Amino acid sequence: MAVNMKGRSLISINDLTHEEIWQIFDLTKTLKLNRLSGAPHRLLEGKKLGMIFSKPSTRTRVSFEVGIYELGGIGLYFGPTDLQLGKSENISDTAKVLSRYLDGIMIRTFAHQDVIDLARYGSIPVINGLTDLLHPCQGLTDLFTILEKKGNLKGLKLAFIGDGNNVAHSLLNGCSKTGMDITIACPKGYEPDKDIVAGAMANAKYFNSKVEILNDPKEAVKNADVIYTDVWASMGQEKEAAERKKIFMNYQINQELVKLAKDDYLFLHCLPAHRGDEVVNEVIDSANSVVFDEAENRLHVQKAIMALLL
Ligand code: CP
Ligand code: NVA
Repeated sequence: MAVNMKGRSLISINDLTHEEIWQIFDLTKTLKLNRLSGAPHRLLEGKKLGMIFSKPSTRTRVSFEVGIYELGGIGLYFGPTDLQLGKSENISDTAKVLSRYLDGIMIRTFAHQDVIDLARYGSIPVINGLTDLLHPCQGLTDLFTILEKKGNLKGLKLAFIGDGNNVAHSLLNGCSKTGMDITIACPKGYEPDKDIVAGAMANAKYFNSKVEILNDPKEAVKNADVIYTDVWASMGQEKEAAERKKIFMNYQINQELVKLAKDDYLFLHCLPAHRGDEVVNEVIDSANSVVFDEAENRLHVQKAIMALLL
């Protein structure tokens, strides 16, 4: 039976039940087919989505704006200098005011707490479009992409190699909620957040799957069905980029490393990619790579999320 998700926010994949995740995937499949066949799917006629960006974006910005438009609504873009928010107005007042005009808010920002507060003080759904801690729309899209390519999720192994960052955290949440095994390999000191790992382990116990945090990329990639990486320095960490490049060099996804995965492994990357750093061209441009399908799927998954929540 379908669960009514109207009015809810999406801040973390961990707030969703297994059933709600599958409901998002089911609607995504339908909306993707509708778009392909030209069938009308204006499920959000006249709805207004505010899109707050404190950090840059290509995929999130364009996919949300195109997505709400295709659903019959309109997106309003607010860049880092557009709102009073954080300068002369606090989050609580901003949340209350925006709730009087809009039907939903998508926000990309630094502090995760700001997204929680926006949802708490406002009265409309808030969608997390990336914080320093999480990137749930990306994680859901990644799982949907794997499901499309492999036909299932349960029992597959995803190896995330690199920084234990926002994308790694959302994959920990997402894999552990859908019965996928996840192994993360990071340099010492760059492991994912302990609480998120603990939550993922609790989920995994329920679904009888595995969560592993290692330091050895070779060990992690062994027999993987999916290899995933992300930038070594995330937005906001630009000053650390040179130092991180040295620390992470052994974590590069190259032809040597991918040999250890299954032959039919998929390569995923949330993009933007720093080619020659975390991944070489020979892998990201190979037949195993699905990074552009993954990027396209942001549109379809987020349309489903908006249609369910707004
Ligand atoms: N993957 C992702 O969120 O990309 P953007 O930063 O371009 O939105
Ligand atoms: N970890 C990256 C993801 C970009 C989509 C960042 O936060 O910059």
